[in-house]
Amino acid sequence: MKKLKLKSILSITLTTLLSFSLVACGKSTEKNSSALDKIKQNKKIVLGTCADYPPYEFHKEVNGKDTIVGLDIEIAKSVAKDLGVELEIKDMKFDGLLPALSSGNIDFIVASMTPTAERAKSVDFSKIYYKASQAIIVKAENSDKFTSLESLEGLRIGAQKGTLQEEIAKTQIPNSKVKSLPKVTDLILALNTDKVDAVVMEEPVAKAYAAHDKSIGLTNIKVVDEEGGSAIAVKKGSADFVKALNETIDKLQKENKIDEFVIKANELQD
Ligand code: ARG
Repeated sequence: MKKLKLKSILSITLTTLLSFSLVACGKSTEKNSSALDKIKQNKKIVLGTCADYPPYEFHKEVNGKDTIVGLDIEIAKSVAKDLGVELEIKDMKFDGLLPALSSGNIDFIVASMTPTAERAKSVDFSKIYYKASQAIIVKAENSDKFTSLESLEGLRIGAQKGTLQEEIAKTQIPNSKVKSLPKVTDLILALNTDKVDAVVMEEPVAKAYAAHDKSIGLTNIKVVDEEGGSAIAVKKGSADFVKALNETIDKLQKENKIDEFVIKANELQD
């Protein structure tokens, strides 16, 4: 009887051990085929972006067809070309990009995303491909009225939901009443219809909107931004993918292509 019990305990332990090692094997083969391998196998890479952001990404009618263009799109095209795969573009809300990446709905994000320490906990980032300052826009007639972050004290400040600008609005403007909206186009409308008093925005984007909408003005307010810059985001644990992205960025930077892309994007807006 005792012997039998020992035997069955032994066999249970063995089975458990065996199934653990099987699970471990399963995991390791899964790991071997990286996100990058999958992209190469599918011959397609899916970009997630938020096309409300000239000159980075915006909608433009090209040959009678609505097209997403801009600096980030050129970068994404270069990535696809270097990997030898086709590029598919998905336009979504900025705050939907990180969830879409973790659920596998998109393969990479090029959306002028700042590689903050907080985000780096859940995704991997390439090196920074472009740096820009932050700016504050108001109604054109008020652009001389506001001269410092303090001059905006207690006002209604707009910022895009889930962005660095939202943080800036909350932390750098005293007693600000922050209104976060999903799209930058919503923020412009909110400013024009007096729903907000000012909007925090990446400077090139602020300039692009102000250049095309005379009712909007840029202030001279200086915003502190230590984390600033744009990088490409991919799923966590994609070292080979990040390496490939950095190679593309290095090459583009060496050939001065990034500046060319910005100039081209600015021209396309006119
Ligand atoms: N750089 C800012 C951030 O990462 C804002 C980016 C917004 N991008 C966009 N395509 N709307 O939080």
